[in-house]
Amino acid sequence: MSLTDLIARFDVDDPTFLADPYPVLDELREATSGFRNERTGQWTITRFDDVHATLRDRRLGRSYSHLYTHAALGKPDPDPRWAAFQAHERWSLLCLEPPDHTRIRRLVSKVFTPKAVAAMRPTVQHFADELLAPCRQADSFELLADFAQPYSVAVICSMLGVPRADTRLLLDWSHAIVKMYELSTSDEVREAANTAAGEYIAYTKALIADKRRTPDGLLVSELVQVEDEGDVLTEDEIVSTTMVLLEAGHEATVNTLGNGLRALMHHRDQWRRLVDGEVEPRVAVEELLRYDPPLQLFERWVLEEGVQIAGRQMKLGEEVAMLFGSAQRDPRRFPDASRFDVARGDAAHIGFGGGIHFCVGAPLARLELEIALAGLVRLFPSLSLVSEPAYLPNFVIRGLAAVHVSG
Ligand code: HEM
Repeated sequence: MSLTDLIARFDVDDPTFLADPYPVLDELREATSGFRNERTGQWTITRFDDVHATLRDRRLGRSYSHLYTHAALGKPDPDPRWAAFQAHERWSLLCLEPPDHTRIRRLVSKVFTPKAVAAMRPTVQHFADELLAPCRQADSFELLADFAQPYSVAVICSMLGVPRADTRLLLDWSHAIVKMYELSTSDEVREAANTAAGEYIAYTKALIADKRRTPDGLLVSELVQVEDEGDVLTEDEIVSTTMVLLEAGHEATVNTLGNGLRALMHHRDQWRRLVDGEVEPRVAVEELLRYDPPLQLFERWVLEEGVQIAGRQMKLGEEVAMLFGSAQRDPRRFPDASRFDVARGDAAHIGFGGGIHFCVGAPLARLELEIALAGLVRLFPSLSLVSEPAYLPNFVIRGLAAVHVSG
C-alpha cells in the first residue's frame, strides 16, 4: 500500500478505524515518523522518541497567545459563538505557558505531591469499598457508570472540596465539554459544549463564593485564600483551574479503567496473574496506561522558525499532533510492544506526558487505578464480560460506552 493510501486510512470519522486504530497506527509508524494530516493541517508524528522529545521542547507550546496575536500567525480570531468554552479554558494550565503556567502550576502542585497523595490512600480506599459493595450484590454491573465514574469523581471532589451530590452535573458538563477536543466536531456538538461550559462557569463561581464565606482548607478554598492574601490568582484563574482539575481529574482515569479492564478480559492469562498474586496491581497499572491509552493525541504549536520535528523543518505557527497510542506501541522503545503484559512494569511511558505540562495528577491517578484494580481482582476473581463493549466514536479521548461485567 502506498504511503498516501495508508495516511488516508487515518480517518477519525471511520467507525472501523475508531473501533481499533492500532493496525493502522502500527503500519503508519513503521512507514513514516510523521505525516501531514490534510484535514487539520497538523504535522502528525508517530514514534516514541519523537513524541518524547517534542513534549520537552520549549520551542513548542500548548498555546502561542503569550507570544503572538492570532493575526500575527495568520490564524482566525476565536469564534465568538463559543465564547463560554473559550472562557472556561482561558486560564487552564493546559492553555498556559510560562510565566503564568509556572505561577499557577506551583500552587496546584503542592496539593498533588506524592506525599500529599499518599495521605489520600484511606479516603480513596473508602470510596472504592463503598462503591464496589453494591456491585457485589448484583448479578452483573456496568463498570463505568456503577463504579469508575462515581469513584473517580468522588476522589477529585473530595480533594477540591466540591459536594459529592453534584457529581451528576459535573459528569454531564464534562462529557459535553471534552467533545470539543476531538479532531472532527459538528456545530451541534460545539453548541452543547459551549452551553455546558457556561453553566459550569456559573456553578464554579458560586462554589468559589461559598468557599470565601466558609473556608474548608481544601483545594478550591486554598486557591481562594491565595487570591485574597496576595492577589496572586484572579477569580477567572481560579475558575479555570478548578474546572481543568475536575475534568482532567476523572475522564482519563475512568477510561483507563474501562479500556484496561477490557484488555484484561481479552487476555485472561494476564487477569489470572493478578488474581494469583503473581503481579501486583500497582505494576499492572503501568501497562494499562501504555497498552490502550485513554488520550490518543496531544497538540503543540511551533513558537520559533525552523524547529525540526520528526524529520521535518517546521514553520512558526504550524501545529504538531503527537500520536500517543502509536508511540506507546513503538517497538523501538517497548520490546514486543503489541503484547499486553501486566508484568512489564515500565513506568517511563508517555501516558502522563512529559516536560512542563506533565500530568499534575499522575500520582493521584496511579493511586486510584491501583486501588480500583486491586478491589476488582480481590472481590471478583471470576469477572467476565457480559457483552463485548463498544468504543465511543471519538479518537482523541478513547473510551468505551459501557462495560457490562458479571462476577
Ligand atoms: C489515568 C489518568 C490520567 C492520564 C492518562 C492523564 C494524562 C495527562 C497527560 C498526557 C497530560 C499532559 C498533556 C500535554 O502534555 O499536552 C496531562 C496533564 C494534566 N493532567 Fe492528567 N491524566 C490523568 C489523570 C489526571 C488526574 C487524576 C488529574 C487531576 C487531579 C489530572 C490533571 C491534569 C492537569 C491539571 C494537567 C495539565 C498540567 C499542566 O499543563 O501543567 N490528570 N494529563
